[in-house]
Amino acid sequence: MTNPVDLHLDVGGEARLHESLRRCWHPVARVDELEDRPLPVTLLDELLVVVRLGDEITCFPDLCVHRGTALSLGWVDDGSRPAPDGSGTVGEPCLVCAYHGWSYDRRGVVRRIPAVHGRSIPNRARVARYATATAAGLIWVLLDPGPGGWEDPSATYPIPDVSSWWQAPGYRTIQIETYDWACSAARRVENFVDFSHFPWVHPGILGDRSKPLSPEHEVIDDGVTISFDIALEEPQASVKGDVAPGVKVQRDPTTYTLHLPLSVTLDQLLPPSAERLSGNHFVLFLAAAPLSAKRCRSFTWNARTYNLDPAADAGLAAFQATILDQDRPIAESQRPEELPVDLSQELHIAGPDRASIAYRRRLAELAAAI
Ligand code: FES
Ligand SMILES: [Fe+2]
Repeated sequence: MTNPVDLHLDVGGEARLHESLRRCWHPVARVDELEDRPLPVTLLDELLVVVRLGDEITCFPDLCVHRGTALSLGWVDDGSRPAPDGSGTVGEPCLVCAYHGWSYDRRGVVRRIPAVHGRSIPNRARVARYATATAAGLIWVLLDPGPGGWEDPSATYPIPDVSSWWQAPGYRTIQIETYDWACSAARRVENFVDFSHFPWVHPGILGDRSKPLSPEHEVIDDGVTISFDIALEEPQASVKGDVAPGVKVQRDPTTYTLHLPLSVTLDQLLPPSAERLSGNHFVLFLAAAPLSAKRCRSFTWNARTYNLDPAADAGLAAFQATILDQDRPIAESQRPEELPVDLSQELHIAGPDRASIAYRRRLAELAAAI
């Protein structure tokens, strides 16, 4: 960990953070979005292609080493066909470039150049392979996997632990539509854990302007997550489906867990039901991906243990869309679009901004570690 002096970054601080994020896992797509065609994605200003080769999900730069064509225009070949000159099969699935048919294997090595039958393939005929993983129904990519390379990657932070709810017994999980905002991923994450804006941005839904006081709460930073419990009154609690319309509810504490650097789990404890005497859960999981320093993509799941009828799904998704429509203009208006990791650049209020201060300290450390 760094000396406190390092927390006061110069103007290049955000640029260093952008660079440091290459050493962190980020989601690039939902697993179910990836069919049998290559999928172009963007991460930290890099154009990438994600493709299933056999039972492995791979990721390469979206650029053929021959003439710079986008590999995402190509297709997958199962490698079973002999070369035109009869020199054998590749023997494993390959990504074939759409321009001249070069075949890339799962390591990013060119295994066939159809126009030069039988001749040896140059050593430089390869592209980088990035580290990939799947978790929480998402495909995660690590651009800089450290000395072990993509086969033995090491990242600054682990992929978020979602075992308490993802595919857990008794949970129904629905997808909230993926969306892009014109702000940094860190601004988006900070907005998600900022509860003191509820009365102002979400009046009558998540907060009440006559009750703007932030409850006391303790923020716990264990180096991998920043978490806190907060108990709020919800004016429109009925959207959760557990109380009648019009009933205001003082909720039990909701646990917010910010998985460094750019994901959050919100786990709200709701009253027990006959099926779940220990209490019910309403979970929102957000994983924000830095497309660039000033643009992010948010992947969101909503899980619940009550009212498991699929007919309730659309209402819950619509509720999230309403909240997001209110948050978006606020987050996109913030300047700079990046989150200033120098704490002196914005005015923080002890109490409601405690989690945000802890978050910015961790991001400053991440940037300083470059
Ligand atoms: S540009 Fe890809 S094979 Fe020629
Ligand atoms: Fe909000």
